[in-house]
Amino acid sequence: MKRILSGIQPTGSLNIGTYLGSVKNFVKLQSQMPDYEFFIFIADLHAITVYKDKQELRGKIRELAALYVACGLDPTRVNLFIQSEVPAHSQMAYLLQCNSYIGELERMTQYKDKSRKQETGVTVGLFTYPTLMAADILLYDPEFVPVGKDQKQHLELARDIAIRVNNKYNDIFTVPKPLIAEIGAKINSLNDPTAKMSKSDNNEKSRINLLDPENTIKKKIRSAVTDSLGTVKYNPEERPGVSNLMTIYHVITNISFEDIEKKYEGMGYKEFKEDLGEIVYQELKPIQERFNDLINSKELDTILDNGRERANQVAFKKVMKFNDRIGLGRKRK
Ligand code: TYM
Repeated sequence: MKRILSGIQPTGSLNIGTYLGSVKNFVKLQSQMPDYEFFIFIADLHAITVYKDKQELRGKIRELAALYVACGLDPTRVNLFIQSEVPAHSQMAYLLQCNSYIGELERMTQYKDKSRKQETGVTVGLFTYPTLMAADILLYDPEFVPVGKDQKQHLELARDIAIRVNNKYNDIFTVPKPLIAEIGAKINSLNDPTAKMSKSDNNEKSRINLLDPENTIKKKIRSAVTDSLGTVKYNPEERPGVSNLMTIYHVITNISFEDIEKKYEGMGYKEFKEDLGEIVYQELKPIQERFNDLINSKELDTILDNGRERANQVAFKKVMKFNDRIGLGRKRK
């Protein structure tokens, strides 16, 4: 069976950027692509490239698992699992590090940005992160990897590594293709609409978290940065603020930019923002309700146990096969 795989880091708070750019897409794909087996995971090993408090990390892992399901991932369609519960990810990452070059990792823009911001204590893990991500992917031979725009470069590296290893060790990996939504693949910050909406931004006003209460959601949208023109028009280059809000509006309602423009013709931002606040709230309300039922449930553990079983089965086999191709250990019978 063909496969689809993706993951999210359990850092910060899951926000509508990650939701609209990735989770909502997974939910759509699980019914649009019935012939594919899905592997979706919580990338907790990725979260520790920067030190995390133990209790907080545990909480975020479970929160993300519950949010995935609350957002509509169907556990009968998707193998949902926690990355660190499948040891083959770390094993495969090492094998891939031995097939990657320092130069290509140094070119990763996310590493350059993050290491620049963090003057001291940049860990080796932050540097080798893209090889762990390549391992996450290549272990499962997925045909497609749905991600937002910011992960495109990491995915290209995973492809390069797969091709290189295939040439050296006789076609062991499927070369994955990115699946990047045309619209919504980059939702920007509410207070700086030229930058990505990010889980790790220190400014809470920059994003709407999936678990924000109604008045917070509406307040954040009311105070989102726009411009002084006061007309609802889509033009991401010249008017990034209002265009970003229109993108959020469009991805949730499916109403085209043209129709949104028509609807708010002759009105200022006030009505548009009031409506958008309500639209976002209505989208998140059922997610929050389902989340509250799930977070302390046994059901969630059963889902994660089942996901772990299946993921381990596939991943262990792959890492053993690669060990064998390299010549590690004893010859397999
Ligand atoms: P992460 O946790 O930063 O983001 C998870 C997914 O959400 C997308 N995304 C966004 N899309 C649109 N607008 C935004 N503002 C926005 N912010 C985040 C990301 O592109 C991503 O698809 N390294 C990955 C996690 C990972 C992974 C993998 C993904 C680990 N292994 C293997 C795919 C395959 C990460 O940190 O994503």
